[in-house]
Amino acid sequence: MTIFEANISISLIDFFKSNLKNIDSLERANFFLKEISGINSFFKNKEELMELKKRIEEDISIIKEPNRRAYGDFQTNEDLANNIVKYLSKRRVSPEFVIEPTCGKGRFILAALKQFKGIKKIVGVEIYYPYVWETKFGILDLFLNEKPTCKPEIEIIHEDVFNFNLEDLAKENKHLNILVIGNPPWVTNSELSTLNSNNLPQKSNFKSHKGIDAITGKGNFDIGEYISLQILRNFDENKGGFAFLVKSAVVKNILHNQWKSKYQIGNIRKLNIDAKKEFNVSVDACLFFTKFNSSAEYTCQEIDFYSQEEITEFGWHKNKFVYSIVDYNKAENLDGKSPFVWRQGMKHDCSKIMELDRFNGHFINGFKQEVSPEQNLLYGLLKSSDLKHEVVDFYRKTTIVTQKKVGQDTSYIKREYPKTYDYLENNRAYFDRRKSSIYRGKPPFSIFGIGDYSFAKYKVAISGMYKRTTFSLVLPEKDKPLMLDDTCYFIGFNTIKEAKIAQTILNSDIVQAFLKAIIFSDAKRSITKDILMRIDMEKAYHLLESEINISEHSDWKLFGEKFKEGSSNQMSLFSN
Ligand SMILES: C[S@@+](CC[C@H](N)C(=O)[O-])C[C@H]1O[C@@H](n2cnc3c(N)ncnc32)[C@H](O)[C@@H]1O
Repeated sequence: MTIFEANISISLIDFFKSNLKNIDSLERANFFLKEISGINSFFKNKEELMELKKRIEEDISIIKEPNRRAYGDFQTNEDLANNIVKYLSKRRVSPEFVIEPTCGKGRFILAALKQFKGIKKIVGVEIYYPYVWETKFGILDLFLNEKPTCKPEIEIIHEDVFNFNLEDLAKENKHLNILVIGNPPWVTNSELSTLNSNNLPQKSNFKSHKGIDAITGKGNFDIGEYISLQILRNFDENKGGFAFLVKSAVVKNILHNQWKSKYQIGNIRKLNIDAKKEFNVSVDACLFFTKFNSSAEYTCQEIDFYSQEEITEFGWHKNKFVYSIVDYNKAENLDGKSPFVWRQGMKHDCSKIMELDRFNGHFINGFKQEVSPEQNLLYGLLKSSDLKHEVVDFYRKTTIVTQKKVGQDTSYIKREYPKTYDYLENNRAYFDRRKSSIYRGKPPFSIFGIGDYSFAKYKVAISGMYKRTTFSLVLPEKDKPLMLDDTCYFIGFNTIKEAKIAQTILNSDIVQAFLKAIIFSDAKRSITKDILMRIDMEKAYHLLESEINISEHSDWKLFGEKFKEGSSNQMSLFSN
């Protein structure tokens, strides 16, 4: 059932019917409801009171909810809100003042009222009017049916949190033990631009990023992150704590920035939840829990919320931002500069034309058309999903490689490979439609991520998209090297022996521990060129020397010699 588009229980409708029947005065109605529930100004004005009285006598229909995407609307379910509040209670959180800055349907407020005994005040803020009502109805229902152990003064405020004065609220309540709890909107500022929404903090120049850049150091981010930062900034000197459900990246970003912001927060915890189960969304999310008024801390314990199993401690350690302090301590001496230049695979942004499937010796493009270019410019292509095994010598896709290095003139294709040229020229419109500015002013059919290194026969490669940190050895097809797409990274070698040694070093326990220490797997692309360029393979090689009897392994010894050569010529022998 809904009233004012807010869900309401039948028992509450009956309660209103019998108790408000003879009350037409705003003051009397509000006094009566405050006595029961503690809610201040249940009705803002007489019109609201009369409207409610009218609506409870009518047939109440279920109204379809409007699209609330711009409000990042993922309401916390009752069980999760209750479990979070119980968890906090176990950790001796016992607030006198509970603040829910974007309270939605009020599940955290209800859970707090059921769990905490000493609450004196509650403030909930919500932008969506039906939810303001649903929260008030829920509280009234709770007091009528369950008789909570405390009866605080409650304000449920219909307001945009960006216009709400958090600073004064923090200053005026320094004497109270505060809990700021909630689940702020799950939406990024760039999603809001796409939705043409103005649900943004106007004063801080959020949209043009300037204000927010100063706070977070980057352009696109969650507005939940912004709200979290506002809370930390205003309340970090108050007594009490903070417990927000946020995307995992928000905690990582806040901690990364803590180096500069130095908020007075301690006991920082990231408690991972299953967002698919709780909210039916596929994101990494967690409860971010920390204590105000502590000396500023820079690391965070990551824990599984359900099992309470400790996962890692991440954050600032020895002036580096690392994902696993334990692993970093084991492998920190590998944190340096790679003697090899890691390369990203090729990029063409025209897969329907450039990538071909093979069927019984025939080639089919993305439009299911059969094509027959000359073999010379065709190469096997591997994507992230092809790098699942330690050795890869099989490919599903073939790609046309139009250049040997970036910017190379492509007019040779017409002269030397007329069939390939005709095919490309007939589909030129698809190339011309490529949006990225990198293709502007470049020869027709240009590709990127291509150079001498792409033609190294043997490659040691890894996907940037997966959490797996094992490196694959990529073998050529006869004498022709396989190409990788731009979701992969690799180093190239001319001999299989060198490639195998490089792979052994990279897959060794010590390098794997180093990667585990520095990779944040919640990122979209968890493995990047920057990460790979930090692996000092020469140091790893020397650490492994003790495990291998070098005198018996001439190839290993030779490989070590190459580091010496490499220091003067930037490992050109290896990186090609
Ligand atoms: C992720 S939901 C969570 C709701 C509630 N905190 C909970 O835990 O169930 C985010 C809530 O923020 C509200 N919201 C979005 N933008 C807001 C704003 N600018 N000011 C106040 N509330 C806002 C939405 O309407 C929605 O109810």
